[in-house]
Amino acid sequence: MLIRRPPDIKSSEITPAELYFNRRRFLAAMGFAAAGVALPRLGVALPARSGDDEPTSYEAITHYNNFYEFGTGKEDPAANAHTLRPRPWTVEIAGEVARPARYDLDDLLRPMRVEERVYRHRCVEAWSMVIPWMGFPLADLINRVQPTSRARYVEFTTLFDPEQMPGQRRGVLPWPYVEGLRMDEAMHPLTIIATGLYGRPLPNQNGAPLHVVIPWKYGFKGAKSIVRIRFMERQPANTWNVVAPNEYGFYANVNPEVDHPRWSQARERRIGDFFRRPTLMFNGYADQVASLYAGMDLRRNY
Ligand code: MTE
Repeated sequence: MLIRRPPDIKSSEITPAELYFNRRRFLAAMGFAAAGVALPRLGVALPARSGDDEPTSYEAITHYNNFYEFGTGKEDPAANAHTLRPRPWTVEIAGEVARPARYDLDDLLRPMRVEERVYRHRCVEAWSMVIPWMGFPLADLINRVQPTSRARYVEFTTLFDPEQMPGQRRGVLPWPYVEGLRMDEAMHPLTIIATGLYGRPLPNQNGAPLHVVIPWKYGFKGAKSIVRIRFMERQPANTWNVVAPNEYGFYANVNPEVDHPRWSQARERRIGDFFRRPTLMFNGYADQVASLYAGMDLRRNY
């Protein structure tokens, strides 16, 4: 993971994704990337471990999505999400919090320091990507709204509006989509609210205008197009756990040793690669997050 804060990034430095990819492809074709020759300064931050963790193409990140509010096919969200209006947008801060309130999104975002975070993204369906998100630590927002001492969990609720999200007219999932985190997971510095990718505003199909990203968990934990953040004493329900409790738990930590009942989680297909690769414990972030689960049985808490 490589973090750059706004003072380092001039907008003139941000390379449009197409240019970036043409350039990378060109370099790869020339054999530079493979030979490990230092790449010239590019507009987007590359993950520290280079080689196997190169960002997935903008095209794939924005055209291979799970967002059932716009259809269940991988290409449906890109085709259909134009009906979503990410502005104006209101976010309700509710539950165990000093000042429950509804905020205009831009007021809520104004004090936040948006930075680039290049994260591995591992879907429970055993495919993965590397995504250069733009966002800010969820902890910064939580500190601003001051949860009470009773808050032990945070719940995220997606917009419910079948006009904007036509897939909600079908009962494929109970709407709205809901997810939740334990407070220490939500406060962890790796957990971000994404508002963009590749230096651009978040496309609708990726969960505009705000999408919670928890890189050591399966992608389904990351609720998209959030309208409510609620602090709770009790563990919130989460949509996939409600639909199929024996297949999807509350924790959903990436774990190559605990298979999904219908498929193995030991390996994954990185979009754009030919061969599958081994899945890493906590998606490769174990050194930073394993302590959150010390003493827990991860087979039971899947
Ligand atoms: N959020 C909502 N509201 N609806 C969804 O269908 N799908 C989840 C998650 N968040 C989903 C959602 C799943 S299964 C994944 S893998 C990620 O979003 C996909 O995020 P991406 O399209 O930005 O890669």
